[in-house]
Amino acid sequence: MKVEFQNLSKQFEAGQTILKPMDFSDEINTLAIIGPSGGGKSTLLRIIGGLITPTTGRLWVDSKEVTQKESDLQKYRRQIGFVFQQGGLFRHMNAKDNIAIPLEQVHGYSKETASARAMELLERFGLKDDWKKRPAALSGGQKQRVAIARAIAPRPKLLLLDEPTSALDPEYTTEVLDVIRELKDEGMHFIIVTHEMGFARHACEKTAFLYEGSLLEYCESEQLFNHPWTGQLQRFLGKLLEWNV
Ligand SMILES: Nc1ncnc2c1ncn2[C@@H]1O[C@H](COP(=O)(O)OP(=O)(O)OP(=O)(O)O)[C@@H](O)[C@H]1O
Ligand SMILES: [Mg+2]
Repeated sequence: MKVEFQNLSKQFEAGQTILKPMDFSDEINTLAIIGPSGGGKSTLLRIIGGLITPTTGRLWVDSKEVTQKESDLQKYRRQIGFVFQQGGLFRHMNAKDNIAIPLEQVHGYSKETASARAMELLERFGLKDDWKKRPAALSGGQKQRVAIARAIAPRPKLLLLDEPTSALDPEYTTEVLDVIRELKDEGMHFIIVTHEMGFARHACEKTAFLYEGSLLEYCESEQLFNHPWTGQLQRFLGKLLEWNV
């Protein structure tokens, strides 16, 4: 899917620039966004998803402009799936309803079709027997799998994930990353903000390195990790490796 932006920047307050003007144009299947905390990764992802508007610049996704008009944005957001760090499930609803109710209320599915789609995904993600559980009764990894199921249920054209595993214990991280990799194998297009460098490197075709509001490096993941060419990326990767066995 083609993602393009020109002169895109973001300021939340005068005098402070969170994203410096940046240009980008490429065909994206699977993209990882990496970089130090506060560099603007979530902000960029939210702009791409139409959740916040840029201060300057224009954005095109799938060759259509994402304008700042609220009615257009609402329509656009329905075509995008989102998964956040803490899944954001509805606490008072069970796993099945967390998936089915948005399908009915936002996407106009009938009750039966929504319910069938929810059960199909729960089964697929190994959660068939947990459909009645509310989020409080699910493990962190199960919650995130429900969140991913909810995001892909309406068959979005693009899935955006913001650190979907960063609140999880290592064993749950793997099960959630496995699910995302399976989606890739099925042809789902996604952009993931992640601190899991192994996942960025091996499961995402391209990686972007965002540093203090600038897109410093962008290329095929293997190339970016094998040959970081800015001092900033070299230091960033070096720090991560310091504690690896
Ligand atoms: N709504 C907001 N209002 C004001 N400042 C904001 C807002 N959202 C983010 N920022 C600021 O923008 C900067 C970039 O934040 P962002 O969340 O995009 O970083 P990040 O790269 O995702 O960091 P992390 O890895 O910690 O999630 C930070 O300095 C943050 O304080
Ligand atoms: Mg973030």
